[in-house]
Amino acid sequence: MEQQGSYRADDSSVTEKRKEDHINICLQQHVESQIGPGFDDIFLIHQSVPEVDFSQISTEVTLFGKTLDAPLLVEGMTGGTARAKSLNETMATVCQRLKLGMGVGSQRAMIEDHALSYSYSVRESAPDILLIGNLGLPQFIMGYTGVEAEQAITTIGADVLAIHLNPLQEAVQPEGDCNFESGVKVLRSLKKEIDVPIIAKETGGGMCREVAKRLSFLDGLDVGGLGGTSFSAVEYYRNTEEDREIAAQFWNWGMPTAVSIVECAGARALIASGGIRTGIDMAKAIALGADCCGLALPALKAAVEKEGTLEEMLTRMIKELKIAMFLCGCKTLDHLKRTPVVITGKTREFLKERGVKTELYAQR
Ligand SMILES: Cc1cc2nc3c(=O)[nH]c(=O)nc-3n(C[C@H](O)[C@H](O)[C@H](O)COP(=O)(O)O)c2cc1C
Repeated sequence: MEQQGSYRADDSSVTEKRKEDHINICLQQHVESQIGPGFDDIFLIHQSVPEVDFSQISTEVTLFGKTLDAPLLVEGMTGGTARAKSLNETMATVCQRLKLGMGVGSQRAMIEDHALSYSYSVRESAPDILLIGNLGLPQFIMGYTGVEAEQAITTIGADVLAIHLNPLQEAVQPEGDCNFESGVKVLRSLKKEIDVPIIAKETGGGMCREVAKRLSFLDGLDVGGLGGTSFSAVEYYRNTEEDREIAAQFWNWGMPTAVSIVECAGARALIASGGIRTGIDMAKAIALGADCCGLALPALKAAVEKEGTLEEMLTRMIKELKIAMFLCGCKTLDHLKRTPVVITGKTREFLKERGVKTELYAQR
């Protein structure tokens, strides 16, 4: 921990309180962006004679060495409290049953207070799932090194570590950590220190191709695009009256998820998240270039409902993905990735202005 001296230690109870606030706000308030993720602009080509047997369609994908029955993850959300433990357990049990992936929320609280490690540890209920650990880039910029990363990985038996990028959230918090100056350098040295795959994960602001290129040394990207949970909205509710106006202004800031997928296509592994709500969204995300999809807010809401709600929701999404694949005549996800996709409206306008030849997607 060579730079530990420059790390501004946070009181672990403050970190825990913040995570608890996030969960409560997300469950009680409207926190989604008013701008959608862009999937309404995306059309797949309907095949009246699909020439596939629905029962033979495979949604299987291998990601970071783990095979999932469908390209779907419950995104990292929580940890650090007893309630978080119970939510993580529910999500992990369902992901194990459906053979999906799952992330835990920021593990900062357990780095600050090791006694909280139990709340992130789900391997007993989910020995086989693709499990993604989570720490924030601001913490690494302020002094975390491979030591904390290793601790986050080994304590929970993670297969991958996601480093979350949340400049928007930090900027609209009155006390946010806004020095991102050495961000790429810090990620580069972390990558050298750690053997487990590392991905960079946005949290609602989306990702552009310039960032994707600068981070191409990582093992993957999660675009965390605009169109789902808005962390500016979450912070709006946490802020005092006088700080709310700024968070309100940035409620809809960012690169929509559909745009972000196209911009980041070519990453070693590409996860689409931010407003993924149906299996049709998943099919479109994969046709645009994603390897896997993730969802957070609906999974949280389902996990606090009665037993079985989360499993029903995820099962429904996988069925919808399968139907979309059937209607496009695609037997596998590789085939879906090559299927024609028409990009219209604002998404087309945006991508055209960025120099993307959208017609190539429609004519492949
Ligand atoms: C309650 C809640 C807590 C979250 N906490 C984290 C976190 O600790 N680390 C992280 O990388 N992302 C976190 N996220 C962001 C999600 O992982 C995801 O990127 C984002 O919410 C977009 O997905 P969605 O539109 O399906 O909610 C959180 C999201 C929610 C709803």
